[in-house]
Amino acid sequence: MKEIIVKRIEEQEIMDRICELAEEINRDYEGKTVHLACVLKGGVYFVCELSKHLTMPVTIDFMSLSSYGDGMTSQGVITLNQDLTQNIAGKHVLLVEDIIDSGRTLFYVKNMLNKRDPASMEVCTLLDKKANHEADVELRYVGFEIDNYFAVGFGLDYAQKYRNLPYIGELQFKED
Ligand code: IMP
Ligand code: MG
Repeated sequence: MKEIIVKRIEEQEIMDRICELAEEINRDYEGKTVHLACVLKGGVYFVCELSKHLTMPVTIDFMSLSSYGDGMTSQGVITLNQDLTQNIAGKHVLLVEDIIDSGRTLFYVKNMLNKRDPASMEVCTLLDKKANHEADVELRYVGFEIDNYFAVGFGLDYAQKYRNLPYIGELQFKED
């Protein structure tokens, strides 16, 4: 089978939307320091771009989780591969994600981090497959709501590939 990428969201559209999200965050967090907790690896491109447009003091940390193997369907088991390195007690944590699908990963992360007493915790995701939510997820900032296609690019991968595409594409399979 051949992998084909069909462009869904242009690079410029992503950049413009990130600026809008940043403006909203700048308003909401005025006078506060924001602690960006980015979920690796998919959230990296998004957190870098977003953080450049934030005007308040910003700190950044990373954590790594797996819920999908190298396939396209969730394995249902979430593993913490790498925890945050900084304490989040008393901080205004903004969780930065590439995509929310079932919401199970997010549910796991929020539960874990809430026990560490952050001053606040909100979620900012580039993409949201809203129709697929299973867990009760509250998303404060959403870049784009998308249909149920498999998205790659701008950090999102299929079998670790395509993260470096500057746009969001839909992965399709065609007979050779
Ligand atoms: P959830 O726990 O079902 O919400 O799954 C979230 C994780 O699954 C994301 O952080 C991604 O790593 C992965 N994922 C879900 N949908 C897609 C997609 O369309 N493309 C790439 N990865 C995806
Ligand atoms: Mg993710």
